[in-house]
Amino acid sequence: MDLLRFITCGSVDDGKSTLIGRLLYDSKLIFDDQLAALEADSRRVGTQGEDIDFALLVDGLSAEREQGITIDVAYRFFATPHRKFIVADTPGHEQYTRNMVTGASTADAAVILVDARKGMLTQTRRHSFLAKLIGIRHFVLAVNKMDLVDYDRLAFDSIVADYMVFARDAGVAEFTAIPLSGLKGDNVMERSAALPWYEGPSLLEHLEQLPVDDAAAARGPFRLPVQWVNRPNQGFRGFSGLIAEGMVKPGDSVRVLPSGRTTQVSRVVTYDGDLESAQAGQSVTLTLADEVDCSRGSVIAAADSPPEAADQFEADLVWMAEDPLLPGRGYWLKLGTQTVTSTVQPPKYEVNVNTQEQLAAKTLGLNGIGVVELATDAPLVFEPYASSRTLGGFILIDKISHATVGCGMLHFALRRAQNIHWQAIEISREAHARQKGQKPAVIWLTGLSGAGKSTIANLVEKKLYQLGKHSFLLDGDNVRHGLNRDLGFTEADRIENIRRVGEVAKLMADAGLIVITAFISPFRAEREMVRAMLPEGEFIEVFVDAPLAEAERRDVKGLYAKARAGQLKNFTGIDSPYEAPEHPQIRVDTTVMSAEEAAESIVREVLARG
Ligand code: ADX
Repeated sequence: MDLLRFITCGSVDDGKSTLIGRLLYDSKLIFDDQLAALEADSRRVGTQGEDIDFALLVDGLSAEREQGITIDVAYRFFATPHRKFIVADTPGHEQYTRNMVTGASTADAAVILVDARKGMLTQTRRHSFLAKLIGIRHFVLAVNKMDLVDYDRLAFDSIVADYMVFARDAGVAEFTAIPLSGLKGDNVMERSAALPWYEGPSLLEHLEQLPVDDAAAARGPFRLPVQWVNRPNQGFRGFSGLIAEGMVKPGDSVRVLPSGRTTQVSRVVTYDGDLESAQAGQSVTLTLADEVDCSRGSVIAAADSPPEAADQFEADLVWMAEDPLLPGRGYWLKLGTQTVTSTVQPPKYEVNVNTQEQLAAKTLGLNGIGVVELATDAPLVFEPYASSRTLGGFILIDKISHATVGCGMLHFALRRAQNIHWQAIEISREAHARQKGQKPAVIWLTGLSGAGKSTIANLVEKKLYQLGKHSFLLDGDNVRHGLNRDLGFTEADRIENIRRVGEVAKLMADAGLIVITAFISPFRAEREMVRAMLPEGEFIEVFVDAPLAEAERRDVKGLYAKARAGQLKNFTGIDSPYEAPEHPQIRVDTTVMSAEEAAESIVREVLARG
């Protein structure tokens, strides 16, 4: 028996729980986690009758969903004599796009519920649009609660007409509309006499005959995203993972990406012994004929049609976090078994899910859907999402909170950087440093406005100068008059400010200098980004610590007073956040140390670090 995975979606109160309950209950053949619950319920059937039992089941589903609402998707299993089904039941509230996306990512079909009395709502459109983006091929428009509109054909027809317009604009190729009542059971399992004007199949009949092509993945070219590498002490060097596409057998020529080396498959190993061949959907361990560079995140692919590797892309992005997308910030990007850092450009446009209009946007908020360009800090082995869900679908993760904040679908790689090669420079950074007789470093001062960063940074540079060191001081107020004069103080601008300063500091460190920077640099994520740009140990984070009250009392530039008076927006500490370092290499407390003492202690510590 084959298996159809589908997702139900729609707005709150469109009757999903009732419909799913009806499918589960009436199909009687429920398995796995459903079985126990149903057995408990069926004991009540004897005394209370079928309707009560059905209501109990529905109540159970609703309650469970309310409790689990932020967590995830409930997968329900049932079967008929013709087919097995897995239905992903996802909460319908606006803020739970996340769950819908999770459920949809493995589904063959989407059942879009619409309340016959209310017609299409924003959520109906949003979920349909998402289902289409995620690549679901079969759409069912289930016009529910027909009993509440007296099974009126006009009500049904007008919703279908609305959906047809939407489907055309959204690029949904085709859909099947079915009038039904989850509560009464009309057209759920069997065609209902209450709807004599409807000539199509019932929902279940339709779901039973929808084509599912389980073998499709096996026909593509071979791809194995490597999940882990067996250590030699486990007997052999093998590369394990789930085959995403195609088939493999010993002797096949394969290419390992991103390194690009080709070799042959020696063995296809499983826990049950070696296989003569394996295909998409199977977990295997491959051994290769040559010692090649291959680790977690590598992709082993058919040698004659390998996927590409690139580091700049265009993609659909669905934003799933309360905090909006911050263009320029580094997020973890996970694609299959690969994890890299990525930064997203301001969207090319955001899609209005109601009208399909493309709107200008600077960012994406919760549930926003748009098209973006993004860059990764290492090449990513990928395929367009349209050809591979595994190698084309990705999620973005906040580096500090570890929350999944977005999910996306790659369109294609941007060719921009491809023709810009790294120019080999003959005088190396080591040679520059040697000539100056010092080790480069970036002494990164962070702290509130008025904490004393600039004063201390100046003293630090003077002391280094007196010691014969070659240094340079980058100061926020100065850099903002030149290189960064196009930037203000929004979160996005501050991120860009620090990115540029980081790049400049890095170039100066490459030139062998000791760089001192004095920027508020309020966000942990960007300070860590700069740290990651530099060789290990070269980034020295100095927390110039002064409590807000103290910085505000000093108010050297009179800016706190302005901010309190509402004349200056986004002022750090007042209406813009400051994230203090958790483990700075050096902390100077300016409430107990003079600027001179602070500078002295910084120089001492820097010298102690070599
Ligand atoms: S950062 O947040 O992007 O790192 P940066 O250090 O470059 O800030 O600039 C901070 C300086 O700009 C402050 O010392 C202050 O003189 C000035 N300034 C002007 N407006 C603001 C503001 N809204 N928030 C903080 N500093 C501001």
